[in-house]
Amino acid sequence: MSSLTRARATNIDLAPTSLMATYYEQRASAGLIISESTWVSSKAIGFTNIPGIYTQAHVEGWKLVTNAVHKKGGKIFLQLSHAGAASHPDFFDGDIPRGPSAINPQITAFTPTGFKDSVTPVAFTIEEIKETIGDYQKAAANAKAAGFDGVELHAQIFTLIPQFLSVATNQRTDEYGGSIENRARLLFEILDAMKQVWGNKRIGVKFTPTAFNPGILKPDEHTIPTLQYILDKLNSFDLGYLHLVRPATDLTGTAIEPLQENYFRQIRDRYKGTLIANLGFTRDTGNKIIEEEIADLVSFGKDFIANPDLVERFSGNWPLAKPDADTFYTGNEKGYTDYAAIG
Ligand SMILES: Cc1cc2nc3c(=O)[nH]c(=O)nc-3n(C[C@H](O)[C@H](O)[C@H](O)COP(=O)(O)O)c2cc1C
Repeated sequence: MSSLTRARATNIDLAPTSLMATYYEQRASAGLIISESTWVSSKAIGFTNIPGIYTQAHVEGWKLVTNAVHKKGGKIFLQLSHAGAASHPDFFDGDIPRGPSAINPQITAFTPTGFKDSVTPVAFTIEEIKETIGDYQKAAANAKAAGFDGVELHAQIFTLIPQFLSVATNQRTDEYGGSIENRARLLFEILDAMKQVWGNKRIGVKFTPTAFNPGILKPDEHTIPTLQYILDKLNSFDLGYLHLVRPATDLTGTAIEPLQENYFRQIRDRYKGTLIANLGFTRDTGNKIIEEEIADLVSFGKDFIANPDLVERFSGNWPLAKPDADTFYTGNEKGYTDYAAIG
């Protein structure tokens, strides 16, 4: 089960709740659950009602979740996340969010009072970058204290790590900007910090390198060489897995058109470790890519929202229920824990 933000941490502490424990428990038959994206610090926030993993209340709340999943024989990793400049001053008492450079990513942030446009961030100082890496390490340690089986680094869409990887949002002239090696430095320093806590095999990393995000952070001529550099370097990191989201759109005529055909085969040929393929798979296409030995595992997102027993449904080749998009990020039990299992 891939990470699904459901925005149900509806308390001032952003602590996981017993309702969230019920939701994850219902889905425990997934071989491995990756939790929803979770803030590594109070400075990482960029969306409303997303849980954190930086206070004791967070650790206690997540224990409810990990205990519930383990009781049912499941495994669960925590996804660690930072919004970077994809945020809004409303989350920081008016303070301006930090980003790689003072460049507005031009996205909308879901604040407690509705959707608001992102602003021009203040560029991270080197000291703040080091502090942020320390926040990831503390969050990884808290995840361990909360009983998780491992951690997944969120390097997805338009959040902190992709902001550093992209020339559109990173115009730094120090060791965190410019060359590919410099733009990718933060990613690998964070992974190093997480390794101090978990060792390499209990860490995964998730990317969407081909996503045409809202705002200015889009694939460009730097994307393919950057991806190749990351894949090569990840080989030496020997992580538990690489979790990759495939192109969601037609890449014809774009700067990353060469990735269009046989995307996962191209990745497989370069990346030597365990590969999880994601986006739009079905029972049959998922089985096929594994039989062809292109991916080692397949993850499912949306299908787990309305089908807590997705694994049983796939086993029996039973029909799938459709999720209600209106309750993805709002509501309480409705559209969350009220989807029934068939059995
Ligand atoms: C409601 C919703 C919330 C999501 N939240 C996250 C998230 O917090 N972190 C993440 O890495 N991906 C998130 N995703 C992406 C999914 O994990 C997955 O990559 C995507 O839905 C494609 O897989 P699918 O076609 O099986 O749904 C979210 C997707 C949806 C629909």
